[in-house]
Amino acid sequence: MSRFWSPVVHDLSPYVPGEQPKLDNLIKLNTNENPYPPSPHVLAAISAATDRLHLYPDPLASRLREAIATYYNVAPEEVFAGNGSDEVLAHTFTGLLKHDAPLLFPDITYSFFPVWCQLYGIGYEHVPLDAAMRVEIADYRRACGAIILPNPNAPTGIALPREAIEQLVIGHRDQLVVIDEAYVDFGAESAVPLVARHDNLLVVQTLSKSRALAGLRVGFAIGQRPLIEALERVKDSFNSYPLGMLAQAGAVAAIKDEVWFQETRTRIMASRDTLARGLTGLGFEVLPSAANFVFARQPEHGGADLAARLRQHGVIVRHFAKPRIADFLRITIGTEEQCSRLLELAASLV
Ligand SMILES: Cc1ncc(COP(=O)(O)O)c(C=O)c1O
Repeated sequence: MSRFWSPVVHDLSPYVPGEQPKLDNLIKLNTNENPYPPSPHVLAAISAATDRLHLYPDPLASRLREAIATYYNVAPEEVFAGNGSDEVLAHTFTGLLKHDAPLLFPDITYSFFPVWCQLYGIGYEHVPLDAAMRVEIADYRRACGAIILPNPNAPTGIALPREAIEQLVIGHRDQLVVIDEAYVDFGAESAVPLVARHDNLLVVQTLSKSRALAGLRVGFAIGQRPLIEALERVKDSFNSYPLGMLAQAGAVAAIKDEVWFQETRTRIMASRDTLARGLTGLGFEVLPSAANFVFARQPEHGGADLAARLRQHGVIVRHFAKPRIADFLRITIGTEEQCSRLLELAASLV
């Protein structure tokens, strides 16, 4: 604390990211990273881009936006790219989600949402998940300024079908609905095909998870032109060059390597299903996940205790000491070997 702090800093409760341990011999299943290295084309593209490092990068990230637009069959002007989807989301909060009426999001969801609300002075209301930890679209039928939901939701991993997202969008013609699709590539349906017919839908995605590029920091949003223009106005009032040249080059190569993408995501989904079955066999309740993690609890063991004991044996998982979910562990899907080790260890601990 210091007398030089502005009042907003005094009052902040910042987001706490998962631990990035310095020890090499730990099995790290706590921050939903991809366990596989990125496409080799990414490394080649980054290396080829290094001869231009004395120049500023393209402030519009044109090649990247074109690659994303081609992949999703939208126009490049309907794509915004930023430094991780966290930055894209932060710009969305300040540029599109701040209204007189409250922003709605689930009580159990990405814990950065209330932090951005606090930072930007946005009023919000929680909409409780139902007893099965599902988002119930009907519960969002109330006066609001806008809505934001991850799909699949985090940390539950439960996804809504595209049809339910469309119902939500149609039910709020005069409010923006933002869908954070950080984990969509692991088995959920993207809302991107709905963007052409709904001017009140913005979809946000990341290359951190399904493209194995958490270290590069690239995220993007897809929406109709006026929404993207709002994000560009915020970006150019904050940092004109959020994406470095190497990040842009690597991200383009990642989007274009469909073979790598399909192979790795299929492998991760297969490991997830094996892990879920194994945990169920050990008496865990495992929520149905369409993400690269599972959210699970063992009725006879507290979440904090189990997480601590796994850590003592070299496996880190995420535990949230929060109402409704304190008994759960969020376990990232690792390699096949890492998942087997986790199961082996869980069997010895429960
Ligand atoms: C739901 C959700 N949205 C967004 C992000 C941010 O991802 P990134 O900033 O790496 O793109 C995360 C990261 O874990 C997440 O869980």
